[in-house]
Amino acid sequence: MALPFFRKRHSAAAGQVDFDHLPRHVAIILDGNGRWARRRGLPRTAGHKAGAETFRTIATYCRDIGLDYLTVYAFSTENWRRPEEEVSTIMDLLKRYMLEALDTMERDNVRLRFMGDISALSGELQELARRCDEISGRLTGCQCNICINYGGRAELVHAAQDFARACLAGTARPEELTEETFESYLYSAGIPSPELLIRPGGEQRLSNFLLWQCAYAEFYYTDVLWPDFTVEDLHRAFAAYQSRDRRFGGIKR
Ligand code: FPP
Repeated sequence: MALPFFRKRHSAAAGQVDFDHLPRHVAIILDGNGRWARRRGLPRTAGHKAGAETFRTIATYCRDIGLDYLTVYAFSTENWRRPEEEVSTIMDLLKRYMLEALDTMERDNVRLRFMGDISALSGELQELARRCDEISGRLTGCQCNICINYGGRAELVHAAQDFARACLAGTARPEELTEETFESYLYSAGIPSPELLIRPGGEQRLSNFLLWQCAYAEFYYTDVLWPDFTVEDLHRAFAAYQSRDRRFGGIKR
């Protein structure tokens, strides 16, 4: 198929990508901001600011190429242990992004949702997240999920508690629980699992991200630090994904 203009712009690895068979859902662990800053003699907060810009670029591109879902790990349940200045910078960046999204999401038909225990965020951030969620409910386009105060284990415990409560209330029965019904208690209810998980920053671990949802995800690791991650790197990840043999425990026919 002929590549539209915005694909041709980032050509080398794009040539190896079949844009008609992209994953529907891509998940990314935004890692390497601190090292990116340190290598430049800058404070870690500068790395997060650069990382937020990279996120804008990649999220816009994912929307342009028609990806259905993009989920990013922006702040884990463990990230509260970081210095207060770093935490407040990340929260400020999220606030700025939410405010921007509230102005543009309807025009661009982009849904913005938040996954994680957002009750620990400031009242202002919670209210912005609620407004983004409300507008998203009226839209149909690409859905971007930002994981904040998110932990995969916490998500599973939260889902189990909700299910136990439903049992106590008589609206669910333990013997009727299936993998499909359990999924409806997760933050990601209604969202297909990511087929591709990308981790920049050189580490090769899941770090408590989407533990349930990544059961069959293809992992793509790169040493590129998140602020340096480009559309070309995304193409490399797509090409690697498309070269994999996905059998889901079966055998190739
Ligand atoms: C991990 O890199 C990154 C984070 C804990 C924060 C990521 C947050 C952002 C990019 C800003 C979020 C804003 C939006 C709009 C999504 P690290 O600091 O652990 O890197 P290091 O391993 O090099 O120290």
